[in-house]
Amino acid sequence: MTILTTERLRLVPFADEHFEGLYEMNRDPEVMRYITGKPEAPEYTKETIQRVKARWAEWGYSWWSFFELESGRIVGAGCVQHLGRDRANPHETGWRLRRDRWGKGYASEAAQAMAAFAFETVQAPQLVAVCQPANTASSHVMEKLGMEYRGVERWYDMDCAVYGVTAETWRQRHPRRSCPTSAGQTVEADLSESLSVDPLARPSLGRP
Ligand SMILES: CC(C)(COP(=O)(O)OP(=O)(O)OC[C@H]1O[C@@H](n2cnc3c(N)ncnc32)[C@H](O)[C@@H]1OP(=O)(O)O)[C@@H](O)C(=O)NCCC(=O)NCCS
Repeated sequence: MTILTTERLRLVPFADEHFEGLYEMNRDPEVMRYITGKPEAPEYTKETIQRVKARWAEWGYSWWSFFELESGRIVGAGCVQHLGRDRANPHETGWRLRRDRWGKGYASEAAQAMAAFAFETVQAPQLVAVCQPANTASSHVMEKLGMEYRGVERWYDMDCAVYGVTAETWRQRHPRRSCPTSAGQTVEADLSESLSVDPLARPSLGRP
């Protein structure tokens, strides 16, 4: 399992003790507006944590909780997984934040770290992200990550805007970044210094 550290966040693989922080975020209808459209039930949060733990064990990647270094609180969550949760599909990244942490650049900061992990540790050939077309806050994060719009496709029983970036394009824009290889054990990657936003890179519905 891999812990990622950025300038302001620590991304930690989902664990049982994250329940309170994750549920507090996911019960907010505004956070869930473009994901499921309804506040999450506590049982679902608990089931999700178990499912995600199993994926970390099997795949070596899945969902992280975002801990704010300053407060030590869970302020968000994000993933590297597969579209439709099917390993035959491309790797997908996604994110969500507590409402009181929107507008601080946290999603973009975490997204950079997760994408670096996807390309450099997982060796994903491409990385995509999907959102409801009206979710412009999320598609803005995708664009800032250097992803390009690919059109509308049906995922998670919804029409989704699909954005993506290939490994080749990512490497051209991030030639010197490094991230340790995960071999089943917990690995820590400090990306706080290497994650400055590349000016060339300016131009989920991720669900666990
Ligand atoms: C999608 C979501 C994570 C985006 O969060 P966000 O806070 O808007 O995204 P960012 O991290 O990119 O921060 C954006 C803004 O923070 C501001 N900001 C403040 N301090 C900053 C800093 N130090 N660095 C960068 N940006 C900063 C910027 O103005 C930036 O906006 P800009 O890029 O237009 O200039 C959030 O809206 C959310 O949780 N929505 C609900 C869940 C959801 O829909 N998830 C996606 C499912 S597909």
